[in-house]
Amino acid sequence: MSATATRIALITGANKGIGFEVARQLVSHGFQVVLGARRRDAGRQAAAELAQNGGFDKLTTGGQTQFLEIDIANPASITRAAKQLAALVDHLDVLVNNAGILEDGKATAPDVDAGVVRRTFETNTLGPLLVTQAMLPLLLQAPDGARIVNVSSGAGALGEMTSWAPAYSISKTALNAVTRQFAAALRPRHIAVNSVCPGWVRTAMGGAGAPRAVQQGADTIVWLATEAPASLTGRFVRDRKVIGW
Ligand SMILES: NC(=O)c1ccc[n+]([C@@H]2O[C@H](COP(=O)([O-])OP(=O)(O)OC[C@H]3O[C@@H](n4cnc5c(N)ncnc54)[C@H](OP(=O)(O)O)[C@@H]3O)[C@@H](O)[C@H]2O)c1
Repeated sequence: MSATATRIALITGANKGIGFEVARQLVSHGFQVVLGARRRDAGRQAAAELAQNGGFDKLTTGGQTQFLEIDIANPASITRAAKQLAALVDHLDVLVNNAGILEDGKATAPDVDAGVVRRTFETNTLGPLLVTQAMLPLLLQAPDGARIVNVSSGAGALGEMTSWAPAYSISKTALNAVTRQFAAALRPRHIAVNSVCPGWVRTAMGGAGAPRAVQQGADTIVWLATEAPASLTGRFVRDRKVIGW
């Protein structure tokens, strides 16, 4: 099967949590999934687990890496990853900007550490912007128009905002603005760009007490990547419904 005939998706931070579940579900939708991870060991392990379900064989060349090493907080790593990917595939149908960090769950705006704010922005806001820029040449080659899904959070919705996790929340508000900017710029190029709130999900980030399983957290992301109308773009979506910014 040629790469052109196959839908290909890249997911960042896909070695665990919501990202891994999105990868698993996209494999079952028939996608070839490029599993992005910043740690080689964790990425390889997760990719091997997924490969047992048939997700990777067409992308691997002679036992080459079955995942894409990409640290979204490191611009050089993003550039390297884009080059590596362009050597493996000739297009990208779906980009899921999933990787994210939450380091200030116990802080409030009056006391949040500036270094934490900077690091959180570099990962949660600037990271998806740079990854999208770097992958754009491949996305523009998608035969039926590409889809970009930015994994945001209700914590970033201005209408719902509380004092919780200021760095994280503000970084997700700004990520939503990144979504709007790319959606407007890429609409004429047939690329849909949306933000998703996955809900509160049981992962390393969400904790054991979260009400949602990863399957539910991944559902709207996978829907936007596959079955959602291509005309749906520039929106914030939760449970397959448009919500307020
Ligand atoms: N869980 C929730 O309740 C919830 C709610 C709303 C939104 N979200 C959003 O959903 C997304 C996934 O979260 P999750 O709950 O699945 O969290 P998670 O289990 O902590 O997974 C986060 C993933 O992001 C990766 N990552 C972090 N920084 C990275 C970097 N610089 N470069 C590449 N990868 C990086 C992590 O890699 P390592 O394994 O190397 O750390 C991990 O694979 C995040 O954007 C999060 O903000 C989650």
